[in-house]
Amino acid sequence: MIKILANDGISTDGLFLLQEAGYEVNTNHIKQENLHKAIPRYDAIIVRSATQIRQPLIDIATNLKLIVRAGVGLDNIDVAYAESKGIKIIATHEASSDSVAELVIAHLFTIARNLHISNREMPMLGNTGFKILKKKYSSGFELSGKTIGIIGFGKIGQSVARLAIGLGMQVMPVDLVQDELKIDVSLYNSEDIALSVKMKTVELEEMLTQADIITVHVPFAGKAILTAKEIEKMKTGVVIINTSRGGVVEEAALLQALNEGKVRAAGLDVFKNEPTPNKAILRHPKVSLSPHIGGSTVEAQERIGLAVADAIITFFELSK
Ligand code: 3PG
Repeated sequence: MIKILANDGISTDGLFLLQEAGYEVNTNHIKQENLHKAIPRYDAIIVRSATQIRQPLIDIATNLKLIVRAGVGLDNIDVAYAESKGIKIIATHEASSDSVAELVIAHLFTIARNLHISNREMPMLGNTGFKILKKKYSSGFELSGKTIGIIGFGKIGQSVARLAIGLGMQVMPVDLVQDELKIDVSLYNSEDIALSVKMKTVELEEMLTQADIITVHVPFAGKAILTAKEIEKMKTGVVIINTSRGGVVEEAALLQALNEGKVRAAGLDVFKNEPTPNKAILRHPKVSLSPHIGGSTVEAQERIGLAVADAIITFFELSK
């Protein structure tokens, strides 16, 4: 019987599909330090970002044929090494795009109306200093009419663009591969396309100087793509959102730019040293924070679970 370890969990429906297909699925989380004892027993492992699949583990995973990333980012897996050992890697690329995009917009609305900081102050001062807080937080801004630069125009970037169009924002996508793309907007989550918007990508430099808001949707490729150099080129008062990976925006440069007022505010879902991010970032009054929950909605996890099950069943059927 094919044995699967769903080390960071799987949705009920995904689990049901795998069990119905006759696979044995262990959904108990095995701690990273104990994984080396368990992994030789499994044919496939399903992980989120919490579980690291590095070279030493791959070396002892003698039965492992498949690693499934229930999500997008592959930085917790030594992909090339696993592939060199004949292990296939599959990720669920589209399933969480809308959830991540909605979190981007949530951070944006939060920042636009100072909710991140008024939520911290209202419980203490809302009863005694209401008028003071009202004055303090009365200089919000509307998203409508603002220009949003989207770095990385894959599925998540496109989903952000779709929401931004609906909010009346101007979209400036930046992408290494794509020049032009059609963004389809449908009404009421139906299949019918209500609006189709053709978008041309622009050069990074052009976007940096024109965007009011910049959001990044690229994997971490070993170095930051927004450093002090790029921030310097941005408009004063720019807002930066990072829901991709911590290292993609250089945290020290961001902190300095926040302190100097070059960057008005930042919305961060991801951090350099997860799960112990820099406290100066966490405590900064100009930062709206979330603990890496971009793909963590009920809907996204249901879609991911089904996509994972589908990918595993297909893989083992084809290998028969
Ligand atoms: C991803 O790469 O899919 C997201 O960052 C979500 O990661 P998670 O599955 O660990 O929440």
